Amino acid sequence: MEEEKKTKFVFIGAGWVGSLTSAVLASHWPENEFHVFDISTSIIDRWNSGQVPIYEPGLEELVKKSIGKNLFFTANKDIAFKNATVFFICVNTPTKVKGKGKGEVHDLKFVEACTSAVADYFANVEMKDTIAIVEKSTVGPRTSCFLKSLFSERQVKYKENKNKFCVMSNPEFLAEGVAIRDLEHPDRIIIGSDADVRSKLMLDKIVTLYSRFVPREKIITTSTFTAELSKLASNAFLAQRVSSINSLSPICEKLGIDVSNLSTCIGSDSRIGNKYLSASIGFGGSCLEKDLLALVYLARSLGFEEVADYWKAVYNINAYQKRRISDMIVQEMLNSLSFKKLTLLGVAFKKNTSDCRGSAALTVARDLLEESAHLQIYDPKATKDHFLREMQAYFPEEPLTEEMTKHIEFMSSPLLAAKDSSALIILTEWDEFRSLDYASLFEQMSKPAFVFDCRGVTDQEQLKTIGFKVYKLGVCLPQ
Ligand code: NAD
Ligand code: UDX
Repeated sequence: MEEEKKTKFVFIGAGWVGSLTSAVLASHWPENEFHVFDISTSIIDRWNSGQVPIYEPGLEELVKKSIGKNLFFTANKDIAFKNATVFFICVNTPTKVKGKGKGEVHDLKFVEACTSAVADYFANVEMKDTIAIVEKSTVGPRTSCFLKSLFSERQVKYKENKNKFCVMSNPEFLAEGVAIRDLEHPDRIIIGSDADVRSKLMLDKIVTLYSRFVPREKIITTSTFTAELSKLASNAFLAQRVSSINSLSPICEKLGIDVSNLSTCIGSDSRIGNKYLSASIGFGGSCLEKDLLALVYLARSLGFEEVADYWKAVYNINAYQKRRISDMIVQEMLNSLSFKKLTLLGVAFKKNTSDCRGSAALTVARDLLEESAHLQIYDPKATKDHFLREMQAYFPEEPLTEEMTKHIEFMSSPLLAAKDSSALIILTEWDEFRSLDYASLFEQMSKPAFVFDCRGVTDQEQLKTIGFKVYKLGVCLPQ
């Protein structure tokens, strides 16, 4: 344990994973230094000026405890890397948007760039201690081999450096909105390493790092490839559960069955379990879809077409769910949305986050804009700039036109967003949408007034009494 006191840990990437994991670890290890390095000076400046650039419950308070003491944010590579022995790679691994594997495989350019930066740094330093490069970013199996050769090939001046490093995999399983709980009380920590002596030494170091607050039996040590694949597979399983329940939602709507009652019946079987069975407009976020598609690509590239098709079907149901709902909205509005104002309640991909990456709201908004609707959006945390950026990122080949952008308005309250609107479309399950004063919103709206509850958070009978025509996902068609 004494030895641990001297370790300097570097997190490369000051986004969700880099900032959250470093802040939690720093709070448990006041005697160690945690340096978060990012190439974006504007992100680093925001962290250092006390404006936490992302909304995650509890994060601001947690960072305040350690920043400037044992948690440091910097855009200066030399300051961050000097005397460090463990480098956690926490950069983004988005889906490739062009070239081979476009639309499916992870784009590893940021992982490659930051590993090169570490390799170049050590190319001019004679290494005394063993260093570990730890993949926390989600990457496919065997990426570690590529990173190993990338590092090794650059050690020309000090050849012995080649024998003093290892690459490990420690995938991150936090979910946004509940990330601090997930980090403090993880179901499991997975650490993959090779079997050589150096790797074993660094594996012990990483196990010790978590053991201070995670019970040892929850720390699974395994091979590097297993750890890498475990992350893709876990996200694919989660996506599969959402698609499974979502696939039953149109059947429930047609037959007058409430999908949440169905979930209770299914989830009461302890072999199935009751988590992750909430029917929705479709899973969003920066991870499930991209990692599911990366698994599809992996299976196909290994020659397993049927396996690829199986996982692709999970993706297809998600795409179907989003489209079927935007099609229904258009149809209910007499296929004519020109000059109509529509209110989107929530655009974040889930509650308790400001994050719109991959949100189902991007697809629904895009479909409604194509129909010339005017969107009045209210979200408690998501911002217009971020929403527009993520819209461009999600539809790389169909940039928003100037005309469409003019028709995206963000409002500061649900009441303002409802003014003269024809429909309230609930796309995120924010708690406040369960108890809005829907009667006051109704008064503001043009008639007939619709509610399309795509998250199952409202009481449809109460809304009907107010005078709304109501659609509730997985429960009833508009009536
Ligand atoms: P993010 O986009 O929020 O942050 C990534 C950061 O890396 C950005 O600030 C970017 O500027 C920085 N960066 C990019 N290239 C760099 C380089 N060469 N050097 C230094 N910094 C660089 O990403 P995220 O959401 O934190 O995700 C990071 C990884 O973790 C991804 O692989 C993701 O799949 C995985 N993951 C994410 C979550 C999540 O909930 N967001 C959960 C588990 C795993
Ligand atoms: C996910 C994984 O849960 C996490 O382990 C991994 O590290 C990153 O990816 P995240 O995307 O942050 O986390 O959120 P999650 O809670 O998994 O939700 C993903 C999407 O699925 C959201 O759009 C959510 O609304 C949707 N979802 C989730 C449902 O529609 N129904 C459910 O029952 C659960």
